[in-house]
Amino acid sequence: APAGLVDAFRRPLRDLRISITDRCNFRCVYCMPKTVFGRDYAFLDRDELLTFEEITRIARVSAAHGVHKIRLTGGEPLLRRGIEELIGMLAELRTPEGAPLEIALTTNGAALGVKAAALKAAGLTRVTVSLDSLDDELFQRMNDVRFPVSRVLAGIDAAHEAGLAPIRLNMVVKRGLNDQEILDMARHFKGTPYTLRFIEYMDVGNTNGWSLDEVVPSAEVVSRIHEVFPLEPVGAVVPGETAQRWRYVDGGGEIGVISSVTNAFCGTCNRARISTEGKLFTCLFASDGHDLRALLRGGATDDELSAAMAAIWGARDDRYSEERASLTPELRASRKHVEMSYIGG
Ligand code: GTP
Ligand code: 5AD
Ligand code: SF4
Ligand code: SF4
Repeated sequence: APAGLVDAFRRPLRDLRISITDRCNFRCVYCMPKTVFGRDYAFLDRDELLTFEEITRIARVSAAHGVHKIRLTGGEPLLRRGIEELIGMLAELRTPEGAPLEIALTTNGAALGVKAAALKAAGLTRVTVSLDSLDDELFQRMNDVRFPVSRVLAGIDAAHEAGLAPIRLNMVVKRGLNDQEILDMARHFKGTPYTLRFIEYMDVGNTNGWSLDEVVPSAEVVSRIHEVFPLEPVGAVVPGETAQRWRYVDGGGEIGVISSVTNAFCGTCNRARISTEGKLFTCLFASDGHDLRALLRGGATDDELSAAMAAIWGARDDRYSEERASLTPELRASRKHVEMSYIGG
């Protein structure tokens, strides 16, 4: 298959984000509120999920199209049984130039204490851990399953000891909920091997009741930290990155800000997403995906799968975060969006 596929805006395909389960052991209030994801919520059945063979096949064809990085997400990806085996299969894939793919994982960190060493041994490159507060009372209120922050912190350290580097920490900032934690988080991780990234709360899905008032603009995050610990900007290192980087002037390392609301990055977006049941989404905010599982289970050859993916990417014209500002709240609410826990962020 030809490398160098580009979409309608000439954006290449570089990242493949694969959701491997729609389940999670947390019920973060901004992602899987218990009112919606309650006891009788219908998660996908086992035979609806892509198998490891199916995932690996999609990843192999994607690598031939230029994908360099695979990110496993969920729900909570560490809940998928046998994930180490899947990572082992993905670690054998190569780019057309013969290089291994980068294999990353976004996790809530709950199981890292138990799994970090095995994940590294299987071939995982690095992990990104979601961490919204250091205050145990608030952390437990945000995950809504009384999970103690100390166990996530221990998981992060276990990942570090296992050599899963570099480790990034994601803090979703929601005004009035955890924004008073910004400085504590910055102070705590300054000078550690961990890069903290502040994420503007996004209007993903249709269940989180998003409103613009709850977004803390990244410029405000940076200025609040800068007043205490002076920062200076660092240029982008990887093309199409989600985060803008800032470095502590005193050498205490870096932070990142992910500003999908106030400074959309669609112009360089090179990410495709595969849902747990095998739909290819060309945007986090797409209303629906393209059913690759039907192709796979219908007996398509690798060439047919490759051609289908190329056609989908070639027609891609998504730029939701750039359009968001011009949508009225009514228009925004009327659009159907896939849930974050289903597509993996
Ligand atoms: P790195 O490889 O570490 O740069 O990871 P990443 O930032 O691509 O992924 P991660 O899973 O850590 O996501 C960080 C935040 O960025 C989450 O809130 C994601 O939902 C959000 N995000 C990731 N990709 C996109 C994207 O293409 N568009 C938008 N709007 N948000 C994204
Ligand atoms: N806005 C921004 N980020 C979110 N995440 C989950 N929900 C939202 C939201 N509404 C984050 C998670 C995880 C990443 C994949 O997405 O905390 O770190
Ligand atoms: Fe689970 Fe992550 Fe969503 Fe929290 S943000 S409920 S940890 S998938
Ligand atoms: Fe990419 Fe869509 Fe996010 Fe824009 S909103 S950066 S097109 S995933």
